Amino acid sequence: MNDETISPAAPLFTRPTEAKGAPRHVIPQNESLPATAKQIVEDETILDGNARLNLATFVSTWMDDEAKDVYTSSFDKNMIDKDEYPQTAAIEDNCWRMLANLWNSPDAGHSIGTSTIGSSEACMLGGLAFKRRWQQLRRAQGKDASTPNLVMSSAVQVCWEKFCNYFDVEPRFVPITEEHKTLDGHDLEKYVDENTIGVVAIMGVTYTGMYEPVAQIAAALDAIQEHTGLDIPIHVDGASGGMIAPFLQPDLVWDFRLERVHSISTSGHKYGLVYPGLGWVVWREARWLPQDLVFQVSYLGGEMPTFALNFSRPGAQVLLQYYLFLRLGFEGYRAVQQESQDVAKYLAAGIGALDAFELWNDGSDIPVFAWRLQKGHTDNWTLYDLQDRLRMRGWLVPAYPMPDDLTDITVQRIVVRNGLSMDLAQSLLADIQREVAYLDGLQSPMPTAAANSAFHH
Ligand SMILES: Cc1ncc(COP(=O)(O)O)c(C=O)c1O
Repeated sequence: MNDETISPAAPLFTRPTEAKGAPRHVIPQNESLPATAKQIVEDETILDGNARLNLATFVSTWMDDEAKDVYTSSFDKNMIDKDEYPQTAAIEDNCWRMLANLWNSPDAGHSIGTSTIGSSEACMLGGLAFKRRWQQLRRAQGKDASTPNLVMSSAVQVCWEKFCNYFDVEPRFVPITEEHKTLDGHDLEKYVDENTIGVVAIMGVTYTGMYEPVAQIAAALDAIQEHTGLDIPIHVDGASGGMIAPFLQPDLVWDFRLERVHSISTSGHKYGLVYPGLGWVVWREARWLPQDLVFQVSYLGGEMPTFALNFSRPGAQVLLQYYLFLRLGFEGYRAVQQESQDVAKYLAAGIGALDAFELWNDGSDIPVFAWRLQKGHTDNWTLYDLQDRLRMRGWLVPAYPMPDDLTDITVQRIVVRNGLSMDLAQSLLADIQREVAYLDGLQSPMPTAAANSAFHH
């Protein structure tokens, strides 16, 4: 029995499922024609934003046509099914080895890595390796291993709070301040102790796009080791910067050139330039990944090690990453990231030139920057009002409060991704200038400053 008993030739919007409206919370009793169901899905998502105008997200919203072909021919592949798709499994290995080399592993042959569903999973795996290694060391010394802690900036992405919550690790947040805009090693000795499983350093802080000085943090931990004997490793959360710094700041030492950096994670779906969801994590040396965290899956009649939270997940994104590594090469990636940075700096300069604003940073780390209202500029409007005005033009430019100890400061941020062309950026800047002029022309305060912070992670 079909809900749509009339011919498929009937005009689309007169068919029964369309005419009655689709149920929202129960599965319909009967089937519909494919074209009707497709139309309903497309119509219901018509009010979603235009991803290209979403300057809040770090995640890729554009790939070329060949990538789309690779995607379409592989979206049925399950990454965990290494027996069925041995070539996809081999390509996954090639990709993390390429990253180990890109991140200056002294011997990529002795590194180990894996793809993940995104940076969140990759960070959790990095954190779990820290925790297990610390527990093993403590138990071997006959010491208590029940109160691990992890030290990080108060501006970490929420995935680290989740890690601590889900895996029973005490989070120790070092607050950012006007003097110390990122975790930079100052006062670190007050936060670490014998129960510290590791320190997280962020290459590309989510709130602002700034790099944390990993070498400086490592030097602070060296000094701590000298005084206390505590040997505390670093995980670099390079969700964004892991795919920017090697191309745009090759001389910046933040990666496996630092012995203390045990592991690095990144999002293939951010500046790796692949559609969501793909992440990567690599350990400098295989010994930093405790073997009892690794499971064996069947592979070509043999066994293949895996370390992951998910079991099944798409293999297509891994192939897309490989496609891009081959398609762009180092020089191509450098050119794409440089273009994004040029656009970010152009926008930062234009926004910084407006009387209303003070730049927090200018996009010279990753192509991301934030600004705040100049003190005393106005009592009539806030950055939330500007966010709303820009939304009316289709742009999503989030405003939000900074984390501890700067929660009284509101910033607005732009993430420049591949696809935000200079042409689009010029339109955006013109829109910002026009909306600021409108807001500055107000004779009295906006009725309610909507303090709702938009999505910005
Ligand atoms: C620094 C940092 N770490 C981790 C994440 C989480 O990444 P994903 O969305 O790939 O899970 C993000 C996302 O923006 C991030 O900026």
